[in-house]
Amino acid sequence: MSEEEVLYEIVDGVATITINRPAKFNALNTSVVTTLRELFKRANTDDTVRSVILTGAGEKAFAAGADITEFQGKNSKTVRSLAENGQELCKYIESMGKPVIAAINGFALGGGCEIAMACDIRHASSNAKFGQPEINLGIIPGFGGTVRLPRLVGLGMAKELVYSGDQIKADEALRIGLINKVFETVTELREGAMNLAKKLVMKPGIAMDLAKQSLNNAWTMPLGKNLDFEVDVFCKTFDTVDKVEGVDAFLNKREAKFKHK
Ligand code: COA
Repeated sequence: MSEEEVLYEIVDGVATITINRPAKFNALNTSVVTTLRELFKRANTDDTVRSVILTGAGEKAFAAGADITEFQGKNSKTVRSLAENGQELCKYIESMGKPVIAAINGFALGGGCEIAMACDIRHASSNAKFGQPEINLGIIPGFGGTVRLPRLVGLGMAKELVYSGDQIKADEALRIGLINKVFETVTELREGAMNLAKKLVMKPGIAMDLAKQSLNNAWTMPLGKNLDFEVDVFCKTFDTVDKVEGVDAFLNKREAKFKHK
């Protein structure tokens, strides 16, 4: 594991995780993916961290996909752990109890796009480009792209992107719902993502976690079960210190100070 290939910094309750291989367009080799998993776990288990930003170093790439040099000489048996490693990372980001913002500062291709799709919120700079170009290598997405992409943009659009391998620009990604917001420059993106992350730090942590779980269940559970789940976790929030604080603050016209309890 090379710690320098991924940077980790905490400011005001926001953990920023930066993929740091700019000369290789932040390509995701095995050690980067493994380190990302460790750092997301660190952020999730650190009580001083309440929201997370994932970004790429430099102004060219968020991540230009899995490191293609690792594909050479691999077959169906030896490549399995590579896909499983990526999928475990994506599942962890998606299910961890804190919100994760992808600040997409350039190319988000292949595994880069797939990891971004596992994040809760995607903001991008106007130079960002998105795509699942695996078909051009004779392979298909393996970090969850064929599953998460259609859920975000619809089956028809996902098929066009995966079959063609074409890249789309940030404004088109915004139009089809792949991302939430576009900033003109990378600097503005980083500021905007940090402002949003700091806003989320101030929200009640238990309610945030339960809202994330319930929203994720909208994708995975049949209607009825997910509604029952929402009632259960809605009720749970009423046993928290933060619910007492939030309601009291509203009624007394003051700002709530949440304790995440
Ligand atoms: N894996 C390994 N190395 C990668 C990479 C990847 N996914 N993406 C980029 N790189 C490396 C290049 O090999 C090059 O390294 P070098 O300078 O040592 O030769 C460096 O990053 C810059 O890339 P380059 O192709 O020279 O830049 P470009 O501006 O012409 O093109 C991309 C940028 C992103 C369009 C192009 O690099 C690309 O298509 N990358 C692969 C994308 C992909 O297929 N991802 C899915 C993998 S499953």
